Formats: sequence, C-alpha cells, structure tokens
Amino acid sequence: MEKEVKILAIESSCDETAAAVVVNGRDVRSNVISSQIDIHTLYGGVVPEIASRNHIERINQVIEEALKKADTTLEEIDAIGVTYGPGLVGALLVGVAEAKALAYAAKKPLIPVHHIEGHISANYIENKELKPPFLCLVVSGGHTHLVKVLDYGKYEILGKTRDDAAGEAFDKVARAIGLGYPGGPKIEKVSHKGNPDAISFPRAKVGKDEYDFSFSGLKSAVLNYLNSCKMKDIEINQADVAASFQKAVSDVLVDHVNHALNEFKMDKFAIAGGVASNGVIREALREACEKKGVEFYHPSPILCTDNGAMIGAAAYYDYLAGIRADLSLNAIPNLKLGEK
Ligand code: KG4
Ligand code: ZN
Repeated sequence: MEKEVKILAIESSCDETAAAVVVNGRDVRSNVISSQIDIHTLYGGVVPEIASRNHIERINQVIEEALKKADTTLEEIDAIGVTYGPGLVGALLVGVAEAKALAYAAKKPLIPVHHIEGHISANYIENKELKPPFLCLVVSGGHTHLVKVLDYGKYEILGKTRDDAAGEAFDKVARAIGLGYPGGPKIEKVSHKGNPDAISFPRAKVGKDEYDFSFSGLKSAVLNYLNSCKMKDIEINQADVAASFQKAVSDVLVDHVNHALNEFKMDKFAIAGGVASNGVIREALREACEKKGVEFYHPSPILCTDNGAMIGAAAYYDYLAGIRADLSLNAIPNLKLGEK
C-alpha cells in the first residue's frame, strides 16, 4: 500500500490567510481560509501593508484550526509546505517565516511551493484520475499563463500576458463601472442580466507570440466607451458592459486554448486560478473541449481562488521529487514558474 504522506500547507501570498492538511496530495482533511476581502474592499483593492499585518494576526489561529479540523497534530505531520512566491513580498514572508519556525520546532521537512503550481495542482484534488500530461490555463488576479503540464513539477509555458492579468482586468473594469472590489464575482453576477453582444469590445491578438495574452487594450476600450457615453450624456447599462467585457475575455481565452489544443493534440485540458471560478468562462471552455473530444477539468470555485489545499497538493509531488528547503528559504515575489 502507498505510504501516507500528510502535509500541512500554508498560503499567504495575497489577501487570504490559509492552511490545510492534505494526505497524498489529493485527500483534503481540512482547508481553512481566512479572507481579508472585507477589509480591502474599503480601499477598493488589496493594500499590501494591511495584508501583511492581517496575515500576522491570523496565521497561528488558521493553522491551529486546520490541524484541529483534520483531527491531527503537528507531530503527526510528515512535512510542511509553504508558498514562497510569486506574490506580495510582505504577505509571503509571513507564511514563509511561520513555516520555517514550525519546521524547525517540530523537526519536519520544509517544502517550498510555487503559487501557480498550487493553482494548477488544485485540479488533482477533485479529479483523482487526472495525471500529466495536460494543457492548463491559469487565470488569476496576478497571472495569465497557458501551460503544458508535462509531468508533476514540469511545465512548459506556451504564453502569458504582456500586461494585465485576466483577473486584474476584471477588477479594473468593475471599479470603472462602479461595482467595486473584488471585481470578478461582481461582474459575473451582473453579467447575467446583460447582453454579451451589446457592445463590441476588441479581442486582442499579440503579434508573433501567438499564445501570449494582452488585456490592457480591452480595459482601455471599456474605459473609452464609458468616457464617450459620459460625453454624450448617455446612461451606461452596467449589465451590458459587464456581459460584453466578460464575453471578450472569454472569447480570447477560448481562442488561445483551441489553438493550443489543435497544435499540440493534447487530450486533457484544465483551468485554474481565481478567474476559473467564473461560470460563463468555464462553460465556454468546456464547450470548446467537448467539440474536440478533449477531457475538461476544473476545480470547484473554493479551490480556484487562493487556498491552502492547492499548496498541499503541489507540495506532495515536490515532496516525492525530494525537493526540500532549509531555514534560509526566503520569499521571492517575482518567482517564475519552473524556477525552483
Ligand atoms: O487566484 P486568485 O485568488 O489570486 C491570485 O493568485 O491572483 O485570483 C483572484 C482574482 C481576482 O482578480 C478576482 O477578481 C478574480 O480572481 N475572480 C474572478 C471571479 N472570482 C474571482 N474573475 C472572474 N469571475 C469570477 N467569478
Ligand atoms: Zn492565486
């Protein structure tokens, strides 16, 4: 029988303080997330300094609760996994310092985890049969990557965003049309009342790097549209703007994925990151996959946005690969995928 490896995973790269206990990368025993969204909503976005301070206040409690909910103790844990990049440096440092202290005190191996690798690995939790190779689209607040997952821990980046990440565009457009923070879920909600074909926003093509993305042009087109309405004294229809913007993002994502599926003939596709919790985008990608007979995977919404369970899933495969950090582990805010 497979040996049980029980990992305590810690995530604090942005505005969620999270910890989880995950067995063999796929069996989530607890997944505790303390969101700071309410606090940052007051400021219209994440304030790094406030995020760090709140992580410090909450992290011990979140870890204790994760251990308790999993009905286990630090002594019974086999290894501690922690996100060390990319993300906000002050926020990352809180998780890294905590993980190092626990690993030292309890004499447990420490596993450094890449945040994006965590998002990708969220797909393993509910899809026990999913194994590399597969194509994965990571769409979050900080990143937009189209990646070939060649094996556990082995990635080939086909394309990424040249400017804004997909989630960032959602957040900026939401602010511009008066929906506030966090933009993604709010745009999705009002979009259901709008017409996705009401306004024709551009679908950006990026030169010769066919798999790269660009969302700043789309964001500017929305801002220009809003300005021109204002000048002409035309009242904007928030739901139509939201639905049309969301459709433009979705079309670009589907187009890139279709193109990669055609070129690389992969038979499995997964979506990951906060924007993957968007039902309209998810269904458009599912339909594209079904048309090609490609198996479609996605994490449930709570595993799409930042959480500890996804870090525990990624940490397990790193653990099996023998990846360990010592107490000199530092936070790396701009860590690239595939760089350890
Ligand atoms: O993955 P995540 O929790 O954090 C990062 O690693 O960035 O992603 C957060 C991003 C935010 O930009 C948020 O607006 C977006 O994901 N998001 C959504 C939805 N839920 C969250 N975007 C579109 N539709 C949603 N339902
Ligand atoms: Zn994230």
